Amino acid sequence: MDKMQDTIDLLKTYNQEHVIRLLERLDDRKKQELIEQIRKIDFQQLQELYENTKKEIEIKENKIEALSYVDKQKLKKQEKEALEELGEEILRKGEYAVVTMAGGQGTRLGHTGPKGTFKLDVYGKGKYLFEILAENLKEANKKYGKIIPWYIMTSKANNEETQKFLEKHNYFGYDKKSVKLFTQSELPLLDTEGKVLIGKDMKIKEASDGNGGTYSSLRATGCLAEMKEKGIKWVFIGGVDNALLKMADTVLLGLAIKEKVQIAAKSIVKANAHERVGVFAKMNGHPKVIEYTEMPEKMAEEVDDNGELKFGEAHIMCNLYTIDAIEKISKEVLIYHSAFKKNSYINEEGKEVIPTEPNSYKFESFIFDAFELFDDIAILRGKREDDFAPVKNKEGEDSPKTAKELYEKFWNRNSPKN
Ligand code: UTP
Repeated sequence: MDKMQDTIDLLKTYNQEHVIRLLERLDDRKKQELIEQIRKIDFQQLQELYENTKKEIEIKENKIEALSYVDKQKLKKQEKEALEELGEEILRKGEYAVVTMAGGQGTRLGHTGPKGTFKLDVYGKGKYLFEILAENLKEANKKYGKIIPWYIMTSKANNEETQKFLEKHNYFGYDKKSVKLFTQSELPLLDTEGKVLIGKDMKIKEASDGNGGTYSSLRATGCLAEMKEKGIKWVFIGGVDNALLKMADTVLLGLAIKEKVQIAAKSIVKANAHERVGVFAKMNGHPKVIEYTEMPEKMAEEVDDNGELKFGEAHIMCNLYTIDAIEKISKEVLIYHSAFKKNSYINEEGKEVIPTEPNSYKFESFIFDAFELFDDIAILRGKREDDFAPVKNKEGEDSPKTAKELYEKFWNRNSPKN
């Protein structure tokens, strides 16, 4: 009973009286389930997140500098080989792991299953996004004689379906014992008054906490500890939806080792000043990715002495970390960004409301917000045609159609795979 009273007090403190009224209506089993859920929620954090939705993000130009990078295309043969050698050594020793972030909702693509189960219409038969990733890793395994442990981050909503899909397709020939799925954490959705939404299951409605949740979820699920046990020294973290993602680029790894940095990333040049991508920069002396929504227009258009965009290195979710860096980040709380979205809920009369306009805040942290915890980052400029074929939108830019074209062109140039 104390538990019930504690829960009621907690809900009162944080102005969530509608949940108390719901608790009173539920049968014992449902009541206990809801109480358990409530006890795991950090309402103080939620209150702060809600307060933050009212503040504007401010980017002051004078604190921002351009970041230096190494252009892969411009490396001399010996320079490139030296970097490759450094990187290869790590792979050959089995000290490399890969994480694929596959917990997103893929709302823009409009595919009903998890995004990795989307089939890209390439070479007639088509290939699933998970299949394309598995092929990329299998190629590296063959080349370096070690099987890279592959960690796939799912969400509570898509974990089961992802697991079943991979089982059904026999992990696309990947060594099953080397693939591990882990589920990312969630945060409640809040309405415009800071109140939690109730879902159809009579629980507080929660949603994935963004791809920045990767680090803490690696720790919470024991994957980080497992990596350390395996002797992993470097961890690659990438998205699920880039058909040209290179997850074991020894030049990138070699560059990180040579520059003695804890984090590294591959970039591509922004297609034009206003392309809707985040770019690398240095803010107050720390690496950062500035989202296109947060970048003042003048800054986006600024060019350097060579006539190139000053802030032109786009972030493509192709990031590399030492295991110590992951450990460090996983203990920090990253900034949360809020997105105002449409979310259905159960009202006080017990009826489901399906909004036609955005009605609630979803909180997400971004993978790149961790960069500012470090002094330096090594950036390797890749090439759009070789490294970036995103599958984001149903049609138009960054759609299955553009990704198919880029993928086929790449493989036609680099030994066709049919
Ligand atoms: P996006 O931000 O592009 O989101 O994710 P999305 O879910 O793929 O698509 P939209 O915005 O709903 O249309 C970039 C990468 O981060 C992963 C995605 O799976 C993708 O690989 N991600 C995103 C997560 O793993 N978890 C999240 O909570 C959000």
